[in-house]
Parts: sequence; structure tokens; C-alpha cells
Amino acid sequence: METLAKPELYAELQSQLRALLEGERDFIANAANFASLLYHSLPDVNWVGFYLLKGDELVLGPFQGKPACVRIAIGKGVCGVAAEQRQTILVDNVHEFPGHIACDSASNSEIVVPLVVDGQFTGVLDLDSPSLARFSDDDASD
Ligand code: SME
Repeated sequence: METLAKPELYAELQSQLRALLEGERDFIANAANFASLLYHSLPDVNWVGFYLLKGDELVLGPFQGKPACVRIAIGKGVCGVAAEQRQTILVDNVHEFPGHIACDSASNSEIVVPLVVDGQFTGVLDLDSPSLARFSDDDASD
């Protein structure tokens, strides 16, 4: 799948995700399979997972990759800023992002996508890469 161009890759992932989640409503199970599908299908990523809103902070959810920090305050790190702004954040070089929270020293770039369900902010999807500028606007929009 790694050799597909991005639009085809994302279309393929979307149909795989539909098949994977079909008929199952358990959030943890579905989030875990979602993280696994992305981690094993996308090239050049070293961490894929969720941070979920619990009270007034983000708490680590299902993920693939090395163990990560458990709690992130809203407004802190890339995840906390994405949560605060409810916007996708692309970071070409995490070492230049003020307040970046380093979980895996291999990570050099990152994308964080806020999750909004029925108008309610529920958490973020976070992807890290060992390559600089791994993620771009087409990853954010697709
Ligand atoms: N780098 C993130 C923390 C989570 S790890 O990347 C898994 C941040 O700055 O919010």
C-alpha cells in the first residue's frame, strides 16, 4: 500500500477502515483498530494514537508506538494547542515548536487532528514521524 499516491492511499484506507469498524460500536476497540491500521499502513510514522478529553485535560487513548506521556493539559504541546484551537496542527520540526512534549526521541515532525463528534470536541488524533516535514496540507485535508 505504501507505493500508492496519497489520494489513492487515503481512499483505500477509508474503505479498509469502514470494513474494520462495520457492525462494531465499542469506542475503545474501534479507536485501537483505527490507530493500528494507520500505523501499519502509512509510510514513515513512528507513533499513531489518540488523546481523549477527560475533564479538563487530554488523556492517552489507544495508540501504536512507544509508550507515551499520559496526560496533556489543554494548550500544552502540539496536542494541547490543537485541542485549544480545535484546528489541525502541522509541525515540520517538533524541536522548533514551543512547548512540544517529547515522548519518543525519534519523532521529528507531527500532525495533530482534533476530533469533533456532533459539535463536541472529544480528543485528538496524533501522528509522529522520524522525518522532518513528513506531513503536509493534503494529509490535513484528506
Ligand atoms: N508530541 C505531543 C505529545 C504526544 S507524543 O507525540 C505521542 C505533543 O507535543 O503534544
